[in-house]
Amino acid sequence: MTEQTGLEALSSESRRFDPPADVAASANVTAEVYEQAAADRLGFWEEQARRLQWDTEWTSALDWQPPYAKWFVGGRLNVAVNCLDRHVAAGSGDRVALHWVGEPEGDTRDLTYAELLRQVCMTASALTELGVQAGDRVCIYLPMVPEAVISMLACARIGAAHSVVFGGFSAQALVDRITDAGAKVVITADGGYRRGAASALKPAVDEALKRCPDVTSVLVVKRTRQDVEWTEGRDHWWSDLVDRQPESHEAQAFDAEQPLFLLYTSGTTGKPKGILHTSGGYLTQAAWTHWAVFDLKPDSDVYWCTADVGWVTGHSYLVYGPLANGATQMMYEGTPDAGGRDRWWSIIEQYGVTLFYTAPTAIRTFMKWGDDLPGGRDLSSLRILGSVGEPINPEAWMWYRRVIGGERCPIVDTWWQTETGAMMISPLPGVTSTKPGSAMGPLPGISVDVVDGEGTSVGKTGGGFLTLDEPWPAMLRGIWNDDARYRDTYWSRFPGRYFAGDGAKWDEDHVLWLLGRVDDVMNISGHRISTTEVESALVSHPKVAEAAVVGAADETTGQAIVAFVTVKGTVGDAESGGDAFAQELRDHVAKEIGPIAKPRQIVLSPELPKTRSGKIMRRLLVDIAERRELGDVTTLADPAVVKAIDDSMAAAAGAKR
Ligand code: PRX
Repeated sequence: MTEQTGLEALSSESRRFDPPADVAASANVTAEVYEQAAADRLGFWEEQARRLQWDTEWTSALDWQPPYAKWFVGGRLNVAVNCLDRHVAAGSGDRVALHWVGEPEGDTRDLTYAELLRQVCMTASALTELGVQAGDRVCIYLPMVPEAVISMLACARIGAAHSVVFGGFSAQALVDRITDAGAKVVITADGGYRRGAASALKPAVDEALKRCPDVTSVLVVKRTRQDVEWTEGRDHWWSDLVDRQPESHEAQAFDAEQPLFLLYTSGTTGKPKGILHTSGGYLTQAAWTHWAVFDLKPDSDVYWCTADVGWVTGHSYLVYGPLANGATQMMYEGTPDAGGRDRWWSIIEQYGVTLFYTAPTAIRTFMKWGDDLPGGRDLSSLRILGSVGEPINPEAWMWYRRVIGGERCPIVDTWWQTETGAMMISPLPGVTSTKPGSAMGPLPGISVDVVDGEGTSVGKTGGGFLTLDEPWPAMLRGIWNDDARYRDTYWSRFPGRYFAGDGAKWDEDHVLWLLGRVDDVMNISGHRISTTEVESALVSHPKVAEAAVVGAADETTGQAIVAFVTVKGTVGDAESGGDAFAQELRDHVAKEIGPIAKPRQIVLSPELPKTRSGKIMRRLLVDIAERRELGDVTTLADPAVVKAIDDSMAAAAGAKR
């Protein structure tokens, strides 16, 4: 490994680490892959599609009627067969697919490919018994248990699209997603283990279904054995219904464009968007990127992606990518500090994890907890480290490399989105050099272009808006039930290009740096939450007159939610700076959206700063929230408002002291 001398004195932009010689020597791909893809992009993706098993080969690689793409036109395949049956048929049935680790110490399950296949077959038949057919939607609201993976693959096997809703979302969020997707069946559990205790899931489903009359069946996994309410005829225990199904299931092939899943994500308006992904192109890119970016050796690697299946990372890099590649992987139910703050490192030590994929927020949290915890465990099995979800600051990158990677493991910082379906920008560990904090450049077969406000390319120097100017196999095929929003959100700002919503810049070495969102989407611990969504939740409280929400820089979570709120009348605890009321509002947001959307801080203010035309000045609120010198305030209708907000923040800080 070569490292430039005097490194510490250099800025992160000029620090560079070459691929370690041992990784380069045995890497799955070589530098030629970039040239090959550049010379024949579609041919390159066709070659990657051939890594999968197709029942019918496609007649053309791409049908592109901007902004609508069809990949591998006419091809037919079954996604679940690609993730399971073909590995078993190839003799890998005894290979462990999932080493599952529950949060309570000692609660573990290992599932081989053969066992996972058996369970997916039984679940597929159970769903069929419940009336689910190809083209239907099934809502999955589960903790991190193997049944989450099994349910997703069972849907794929029968051609039904799943819509996984993160277990941390509220009943209201569940109602919105079930209704928009038109799901008939919900798969859930009595509860799951988190932060050392059993938390309930089914009550949220019961509450939600009062407002979802079209849901006919609920399949319930017994995980915590807590008491649950039961609706006869609608609710079925997994152990009753699934366990009595036949152990094999004949899978049918579906069109390459068969919907595989919907995944709801926040946009710039209050209503979450159902991002639609289909089968052949999605699986091609998820599988290839997982294999190439993690340099996966299925026979010897133990891979661990710490994301929850409720997010896109869990879909593409815990379920579809790794399983399509026949990987052995970890799945962990709980929080990083359950049973001790070195829980993750003890799992890596115990299972000999070689490839590890997590988010910068987690890395920054571990940095705060100190080097001793990972230092006390043997992490020498690790080969490659990945990062995803938000920009990784150079300090966290260097810590990750030094403390977790023992200065030996290449780091792959992977940029992508729910909408892109799979990784788009990342180094290749045996090929590309890396710079702390940079995702380096587009993967082979991917075309990015940074443009200025007018949509003119900045070439390979300078900064602007990140766009994707060629279609890619795993791209979203639309927004469920809202085609106008699809065209408007992604394709109208820069006609003919996909606008990602992120800023980016090229440095002098033509290396790409992602700069975060340029729209009203916040990134909290790598999770997307829109300012409008939180504002809508706040104003739905009877006492709130108006709310403005901003993402303020936060050392650990990247951004944190700060809400400025004006109230109707008085709130009753003015002497304490409104502390009790602020807490009430935070709980209200948790109820409306989920605990991840709780504002870190609520500032009660007599008015919000507005321009003379009545527009809330968010920029100013970000400055206030970050306690920065205020920018230009001359456009404010009433400059006294800013002083009042500042006083209110000072009062709140004073009340806490
Ligand atoms: O702003 C980018 C940021 O996360 C957004 C996508 O969020 P989501 O759809 O929830 O998917 C997250 C997991 C793929 C992007 O628009 N983002 C994601 N990865 C990175 C990143 N920002 C910088 N560097 C990354 N590696």
